[in-house]
Amino acid sequence: MKEMSSQQPETTAITSGRDNSQSLAPPIWTSTTWQSSGLEESRQHALATHEIGNYARYSNPTVRAFERAIAELEGAQDALAFGSGMGAVTSVILALCSKGDHIVAQRQLYGGTVAFLNGPCARFGIDVTFVDGSKPGAFADAVIPGRTMLIIAESPSNPQMGLVDFEQLARIKGPYTLVDSTLATPLGQRPLDFGISLVMHSATKGIAGHNDAMLGVVAGDKDLIDSIWGYSVMHGATASPYDANNGLRGIRTLGVRLAQQCTSAQAIAETLSANNKISAVNYPGLTTHPQHSLARTQMRRSGSVLSFEIASGIEGAKSFLSKLSLIRPAVSLGGPETLACHPASSTHISVSAEDQTAAGITPGLIRLSVGLEDTRDLLADITSAL
Ligand SMILES: Cc1ncc(COP(=O)(O)O)c(C=O)c1O
Repeated sequence: MKEMSSQQPETTAITSGRDNSQSLAPPIWTSTTWQSSGLEESRQHALATHEIGNYARYSNPTVRAFERAIAELEGAQDALAFGSGMGAVTSVILALCSKGDHIVAQRQLYGGTVAFLNGPCARFGIDVTFVDGSKPGAFADAVIPGRTMLIIAESPSNPQMGLVDFEQLARIKGPYTLVDSTLATPLGQRPLDFGISLVMHSATKGIAGHNDAMLGVVAGDKDLIDSIWGYSVMHGATASPYDANNGLRGIRTLGVRLAQQCTSAQAIAETLSANNKISAVNYPGLTTHPQHSLARTQMRRSGSVLSFEIASGIEGAKSFLSKLSLIRPAVSLGGPETLACHPASSTHISVSAEDQTAAGITPGLIRLSVGLEDTRDLLADITSAL
C-alpha cells in the first residue's frame, strides 16, 4: 500500500482543485467554445488532449477544477468527470473493451451497471462473467488470460455492503481493475493506494452531497485517463460545469458531512442489530460484519449507507416504509435527507429475480442512506416505524 501524505484527507478536501486565482469559489465557465488567435492556435487546440479544450465536450475549466480535486483526494495522476455515474462506468467499459473481450464483474453491483453488462455489452459481443466479490479468489479464478480486459468491483457493494479485498484484487495481473467506490466516497477509502487501476464514483451521491447534481468521475494514471478521455469525447456523457461546481462545493464539506453520517449510521446499525424484528444488519462498522477486519484495514470510515432485513419479508418492508415520518422513501444516497428504499423494487428492479437472490437482494431488504438529521430523531423514527 502507498504511503499517505501527512496532510489529512479532510484538509485536502479544502485545499484541492484550486488554481492561483484569488477567488475562493471557482468561476463557472458556461461557454461551450473558445476563441483562438488564428489557424495555428486552433490547430494546437484541436490536437490537444483533456488539459486544454477548445470545445466544452473536450474540456471545461470548471469541470477540470473538479477533476483535479478528485485526483488529489484519490492520490491519482488525473481524473475525468462525466454527466453521471452511469456515464462514467459505461464510458470506461466502452473505452477499454472491444468485441470478443471478456469482463469479470462482481455480482453485487449497482443495478444499472449490471443491466449494462447484461444488455449492451452482450449485444456488442463483450462477454461478462459474474462472481461473488466478497469470496476470496473469485475474481482471479474467472480471469481468462489474454481475453479478460477489465475487472469491475464495487466496495462497499450496493445494497448488501459487502467488501472486496483491494490488495488481493490488485495482485491480478493482466486486466485493468475498476472499483466503484461511490458508497465510501474519496474520504472513506482510496482503492488506488492498493494498486487498483481505476476508481470511480457516482458523484451524484456523497461527493456533490445535496441531491442537486448529476455527476460521475473516474481517477487513475494519466495515460489510462487520457485514453478513456479519447473515447469519452465521442461518447459525449460530458459533465456540466454547473454540476461540477456543485461537486466541488460538496467536496469542501464532505469531511464534516461524512463524519456525522457515519456516527448516525453506526448508531442505527447497532440499534437495529438489537431489535428482534430485524434478521440481519449489513454495515461494515459493525463488529458482526463478516468483513469487519478488512473494513478496518482498507476503509477510513464505514460509510453513510446500511441495509437490513425485516424478518417478516415484503409485508414487513412495505409496512416499515409506510410508517416512517422523518425518513423519506426515495432512491439515491449520500445527501442531507435520510432516505429509505426497497432495492428489490427500485434500484435493482432491472436485475432478474434469480440474480437478485444470488446477490442477496431479498424481499425484506431495506437500504438506508443516512443523512444529516440529529441521530436521536432518526433512531426515534426507525424504532417507531418498526
Ligand atoms: C454504487 C453506484 N454506482 C453507480 C451509480 C450510477 O450513478 P448515477 O445515478 O450518477 O448515474 C449509482 C446510482 O445509484 C450507484 O449507487
